[in-house]
Amino acid sequence: MIQTNSYARFFENNPLCRLMGIEVPIVQAGMVWCSGWRLAAAVSQAGGLGLIGAGSMDPPTLEHHIRSAREATQRPFGVNIPLLYKHAEAHLEVCLKEKVPILVTSAGNPLAFSEKIRAAGLLWGHVVSSVRFARKAVEAGCHFVVAEGFEAGGHNGREETTTLCLIPMVVDAVQVPVIAAGGISDGRSMAAAFALGAQAVQMGTRFAASTESSAHPAYKQAVVASGEGDTDLTLKRLTPVRMIKNAFYKKVLEAQARCASEEELRSLLGQGRSRRGIFEGDLEEGELEAGQVSARIREVIPAAEIVQRTLQEFFEVCTRLRLFT
Ligand SMILES: Cc1cc2nc3c(=O)[nH]c(=O)nc-3n(C[C@H](O)[C@H](O)[C@H](O)COP(=O)(O)O)c2cc1C
Repeated sequence: MIQTNSYARFFENNPLCRLMGIEVPIVQAGMVWCSGWRLAAAVSQAGGLGLIGAGSMDPPTLEHHIRSAREATQRPFGVNIPLLYKHAEAHLEVCLKEKVPILVTSAGNPLAFSEKIRAAGLLWGHVVSSVRFARKAVEAGCHFVVAEGFEAGGHNGREETTTLCLIPMVVDAVQVPVIAAGGISDGRSMAAAFALGAQAVQMGTRFAASTESSAHPAYKQAVVASGEGDTDLTLKRLTPVRMIKNAFYKKVLEAQARCASEEELRSLLGQGRSRRGIFEGDLEEGELEAGQVSARIREVIPAAEIVQRTLQEFFEVCTRLRLFT
């Protein structure tokens, strides 16, 4: 097994590592159709924080994944609950029943379930795309925020603030630790996020194209094959989402260009487009959520290797930069 313990001592005083009980400040994003118990447990086992993505699960399936993760690792892991889906409250009930210690909510109003979450004493963070939403999350009682820039794969904010601009603004605006997300895939980008004031990084697309991701092999290869400019943030009138450009994406563009109604866009998106693309591997008619960083991902590798390589490069960069001090 790849060892991350040699790096752990460097993060002994990292506030997020201490809060979460993890060794290294690398979070694997909760991702529909990608992050089941296998991926979450692999990342937690490697010293980071694995998140089970509840968004593509019904409540009994989430319960199964939580129990399986617990069997696979003794280390802390968490659950991501996107608040825009109909099962959000039931997902929260499952997390409370199963005593999941760490919760990351996203895509909705953090006030919705704040009383319940706080009363249960969970460690809680919310994903935000702006300073305004970061402040709202902290007011709602979050212990940390995940600040996600324009580059990120999947659902995103309308503001189009890039990670480079967003992170320092959020860090300066709130008193809680900030996890940087969007465009991070390796040690260089992790070091950049730390330079901006983040205290941990969350990686999505990089882990979506890992061995343990439950995404279809064709989706993983589509990420690997993507180059610069192959993703776009679209559907801004509905819920903005960054995806790989394909036949489905072109239909969305065409509908938007002729000012199609919200109903038409909704029916085009339909139920199950992301399942079709990410889980079933329909590369043309499915929704292939992925970030700009796809252009920097060249191979599908195990999650532990991603963690290990990222840390190794992070420390190489830090050492190199010290040459100039
Ligand atoms: C395939 C895919 C599915 C995603 N699903 C979710 C989700 O269910 N909940 C969520 O909060 N974010 C979701 N995201 C966003 C990630 O959590 C993460 O913040 C983002 O991927 C970070 O940017 P990156 O892709 O550049 O690493 C998804 C991203 C991808 C690529």
